[in-house]
Amino acid sequence: MADNNVAIPGYSTRFVTVIDHPMVQHKLTILRNKETGPKQFRELIKELAIFEGYEATRHFQLEPIQVETPICETVAYTLRGRKVAIVPILRAGLGMVEGILELIPAARVGHLGLYRDPETHLPVEYYCKLPEDIGAREVLIVDPMLATGGSASAAIEALKQRGVASDQIRLLVIIAAPEGIQTVVNTDPNVNIYTCAIDERLDERAYIVPGLGDAGDRIFGTK
Ligand code: PRP
Ligand code: URA
Repeated sequence: MADNNVAIPGYSTRFVTVIDHPMVQHKLTILRNKETGPKQFRELIKELAIFEGYEATRHFQLEPIQVETPICETVAYTLRGRKVAIVPILRAGLGMVEGILELIPAARVGHLGLYRDPETHLPVEYYCKLPEDIGAREVLIVDPMLATGGSASAAIEALKQRGVASDQIRLLVIIAAPEGIQTVVNTDPNVNIYTCAIDERLDERAYIVPGLGDAGDRIFGTK
């Protein structure tokens, strides 16, 4: 899959992985369109999560095993290493879980409830239920939107407090604002970020421009 490592200002060795595959960019355009309804929106979020999960698991390690094909015995490769937890940031992150589970069916799923206060734009935690062994897992945080970065940073801090090392955390979003990327990297530069696009900026309500609007409302049809 094609991808593009975009340098993060001020961090010479840190990059954001932008999934610039043509299929991804085509699906993202339909997702952005305000005429796209909740059913198709949900399907696209799931499909984009699969593409992203594919990239975000590229570093997984393999080990050789013997396998007998119908033709002969051979050496083939199987995954080894840490088990995975997917942690969606509620609500909108839920839309990405099914796609990642198609790739990694044995992954455990933790839930982290955060909402943005409409006045301050700061994240407020209202729910947290994680796998008991979260500290021993590699964690994929999923949330379609990285705007100010407040929610993602709060999620990273919540996981670190519960024993997850930051180099075991990957953040998968669909659209990122430059401000959000900077906030996350300032929170912890060891967290790798994957996105389908880096948009221009935030507006006065801290929505991503051009973005796609409110991801949670569009997934669940609440507005
Ligand atoms: C959205 C989105 C992120 C957050 C991003 O959730 O899904 O979690 O905003 O913004 P930030 O980077 O400025 O923190 P929202 O708070 O609207 O809640 P919802 O998913 O329940 O709609
Ligand atoms: N949350 C969203 O759902 N969309 C944005 O543009 C910003 C935050």
